[in-house]
Amino acid sequence: MKTNTQAVEDRYLAPFFDRTHVTIERGEGVYVWDDAGKRYIDFTAGWGVTCIGHANPVITRALTEQAGKIIQNPNSGVTYSPVRAELLSLLSGILPQGLCRLFFGSSGAEVNDAAIKLARKVSGRLNVVSTEQSFHGRTISTASATGQAVHREKFNPLMPNYLFVPYNNMEAMARVITPEVAAVILEPIQGEGGVIVPDPQYLRNVSGLCRDKGVFLIIDEVQTGFCRTGPMFASAQEGVHIDFLTMAKGIAGGFPFAAFAVTEEVAARFEKGDHGGTFCGNPLGCAVSLAVVKYLLDNDIGGHVRRMGEKTLAELASWQRENPRLITAVRGTGLLLALQVAEKEIAEEAAAACLDRGLILNVKQGTVVRLFPALTITRDEMREGLAILKAALFSAA
Ligand SMILES: Cc1ncc(COP(=O)(O)O)c(C=O)c1O
Repeated sequence: MKTNTQAVEDRYLAPFFDRTHVTIERGEGVYVWDDAGKRYIDFTAGWGVTCIGHANPVITRALTEQAGKIIQNPNSGVTYSPVRAELLSLLSGILPQGLCRLFFGSSGAEVNDAAIKLARKVSGRLNVVSTEQSFHGRTISTASATGQAVHREKFNPLMPNYLFVPYNNMEAMARVITPEVAAVILEPIQGEGGVIVPDPQYLRNVSGLCRDKGVFLIIDEVQTGFCRTGPMFASAQEGVHIDFLTMAKGIAGGFPFAAFAVTEEVAARFEKGDHGGTFCGNPLGCAVSLAVVKYLLDNDIGGHVRRMGEKTLAELASWQRENPRLITAVRGTGLLLALQVAEKEIAEEAAAACLDRGLILNVKQGTVVRLFPALTITRDEMREGLAILKAALFSAA
């Protein structure tokens, strides 16, 4: 029997997604509660967003204090904002080397769209190289840049001049880079593609190639940024030169907010009016982002993620050794982890059983169970979630 909430949503919400039978009313930390008071561990963090947990008081305080002062005063407007200036100072100190100019937005797709648009404009070139199985958003230009047929084919004709190469394949990348290419857009780890971790040299090699050929490198850290994989940014590696960096999801812990950063060299080639947006850099988002990033830094969440990620991955690897026919791969970095199961039905059955037992999970690409909880998850909470997952998986097999 559907509750009233479910009946109303099913009646009026555009029907893009299937739902479970669960209605979530509130959350705290890594937990959420449904309308009947049942508690769940949330291993999705609202799709990798609530990095410092649900209902973190730090966010509530930032929201209420800023809402009492001023909500809207965009960076597309004609006036300055103290809280935006504070956030700019903080972010400019933690960005990967060379990136120093920022602009804000409200979603990952929006800032990727802006990066692609501006890379084309500044370079005077048209082609954009992306990778197979990548995900960069659902606007028409970012769907065009996304390497998954399911997000592209229905929307033909897409934007022209997007080229695709297999991820983690330098030969293919070298072949596709010609003087017509404006930019390469790349995730440091493919999240939506099934948590695909490239070789350690891959980013550096792509960056070197882009530098040699005068092609911009757009790094999409929408999913991997803000300590999701341990470091503040997964692409902040020795020898990796980034021209555009895009950020969203964890940047404001759940408040819709995003940013892109560029080098001084790129910014010098922007012209007045090249970009903007009504809500860009609104003080409310800036205040929340400031609070979230400070929290990540002050509490060494990156260190915690590294340690928790290593232990969790080791645990998942032991399950694979126990039953290699059921679990065919485990992978990931920090708290962006995945295990791959042998069959789609097993993944679906296990996810449903987890939900019944109080764990919310996400299955990607049919057989990949993705684990990306709040970065503040404790060892006990992780153990509790893993115990539910293991029982569900091993009984689904
Ligand atoms: C790597 C990456 N880029 C872009 C996006 C799109 O972000 P948004 O849903 O905020 O538009 C996502 C969303 O999952 C993502 O994982």
